[in-house]
Parts: sequence; C-alpha cells; structure tokens
Amino acid sequence: MSCTITIVGSLNYDLVTFTQRVPDGGETILADTFESHLGGKGLNEAIATARLLPSKDIKVRMIGNVGDDNFGTELKQSLMDCEVDTTFIKTVSGPSGVAVILVESSGENRILVTPGANGKLRPSPEELEMYFPASKSNQYVILQNEFPDTGNVISWLKTYRPKINICYNPSPFLPELLTTEMLSKIDLLIVNEGEAVDVATHLLSDVDTKDFGKLATQLKTLINPENIQTIIITMGSKGSLFVDKSMDSPKFVLSLKVDRVVDTTGAGDTFFGGVVLQLAHGSKLEDAIAFATAASGIVVQSKGAVESIPFHAKVQSLIESTN
Ligand code: RIB
Repeated sequence: MSCTITIVGSLNYDLVTFTQRVPDGGETILADTFESHLGGKGLNEAIATARLLPSKDIKVRMIGNVGDDNFGTELKQSLMDCEVDTTFIKTVSGPSGVAVILVESSGENRILVTPGANGKLRPSPEELEMYFPASKSNQYVILQNEFPDTGNVISWLKTYRPKINICYNPSPFLPELLTTEMLSKIDLLIVNEGEAVDVATHLLSDVDTKDFGKLATQLKTLINPENIQTIIITMGSKGSLFVDKSMDSPKFVLSLKVDRVVDTTGAGDTFFGGVVLQLAHGSKLEDAIAFATAASGIVVQSKGAVESIPFHAKVQSLIESTN
C-alpha cells in the first residue's frame, strides 16, 4: 500500500553563534564563529525524512509558510532539492521564521525562535480537507509546536481522518495546549527528558520525575490506543526509552558513541523523522529507533541543522560497521 508522510510545521533561517560559553545577564563576551544555516523543526524533520528514505515508495510532503524574503526562497528550495512535495508551502508577506542559536563548546544549544511566517500558519477546515483528502493509504503526520495552530490541526485530523497516525513532539512546550483531551488524539508522542517531566507533571498527579520508565508507561495510557500508540523519551547522550501498544514495559536503546559533539541542533528532529520514516516503511519500533539513533549521532558531529542531516546510505553503512 502507498504511504505518505506529511510534516506540518516551521521553516526557519538559523543564525548560529558558536561560543565557549553563553554570557550571563548584562555580560558581553567574544564568541568564536558565526554561521547561518537552514532549520526549523518542521523543515529539519521533512528533510530528514526525505534524505533517510530507503526507497522512493514513500511520499514526503510539507505544509508550512515562508516569508517573501530571500530566506523564504532558500528554505523552499532546500525542500525541492530533496524532492519533498512543496505544493502546500505558502509564501506569505513579511519575514520568514528566524532562530537565533547559541552553541556552546559542548555542542549544547540555546534557541530563540521568532516565528515570522510560521506564525501565520493556521490551516482552515477547507484547506485541511484539501491537504488530507479521504484515502485508504497508510499515512503519518509529523507535528511540533512551532506554529500557532497545532491543536486545531490535530483535532481536525483525529475527527475526520482517525486512521492517520499523528506523531507529535510538544516542543516548544506550551502547557496551555497540552490537555488530556489533546494528548488522547496523539498516536506517537516523542519527548526529551525535560518535556517528559513537563507533560507528566502537567497532566498526572502521581509522577516520579526520576523514573523515566514509569513515566513512559504512564504517558502511554494518555495517548490514543487505536493506532500505533507509541511513546519515545529521548535522553540525549544516554539513548532513548520507548514503549508501544505491543510492549508490556519500556525498552532502552543506547545512543551512538561519538568522538566529539560539535552541534546538537537538528539531532532531535532527525531522530523524529527517522523513526517515523522507518515505522512507515514497516520496521519494528526497536529497529526504527536504532536507525534514528545512528542518524542523529551523525548530525551532532557537524555544524548546522539541515546541512548535517545524512542520507540513508551513510546511516546504513554506519549501522553495518558497528554491528
Ligand atoms: O530543533 C532545532 C530547530 O529548532 C532549529 O533548526 C531552529 O530553527 C528551531 O526551530
């Protein structure tokens, strides 16, 4: 059966400063280097999904907005270069989304996003009908919180296209958006440790913030039991915990050991795209996570989000060389 992965979300121009450390309030320090890169969680996820495709039998599309500036042209072109379907990328008046990113020598980042055109992404019910015509095909939708209407898109999809697997990363974390009802519409929830604690403490009363296995099991009870019912908690350099409807308890996959972490920007988005792609391709969750772990392990070893996302062959050969 044909399969489509649709990413709904942000496209940003990333302005990245590499520095030994970030300044304190009121302090001025000299940084090392400055670079601009293409990014945005949505764009990163779309490009990761497209580059990591093992074959052309899965269609990748993106729904999003760019501004009518040079950044917008470049962002859209980057999707076309990866053969992502850009039919539903709109150019709106005003600036594209911009992220100001500080990357410390440890590779850890701090990100400040100005939504720009992403802030105008509010698909109407008529547009959603057009974007997601009724179909029997196997479909996955990837979303995050970098556009203002995530909750409405999720509600529309679950009401009118309940078979579509809704894959959601609630980042940046917006407590007002995350209700028990909203979470019950999600089929795959992917969170980092901080987000797992935020989501759990926001919605549950009995939470042990140190026991991520228990958190994953608790979160599983909050999401939709009908489709893939999958929880993934990414734990940075340690690895990731995961559980789905076929598993009684969570399992853990270790992260890839790398010589030097240069820049973690885009690693989480690559992991997310890689997992969804592998699931859409028919892999078991554990294998999908192992593949995505290798892909994101490559990303952290070079600078920039989109520019460091690998192609399928590179990830495959890394997996073969480490087995
Ligand atoms: O997840 C990394 C991304 O977050 C960056 O590319 C930046 O644009 C922000 O959206």
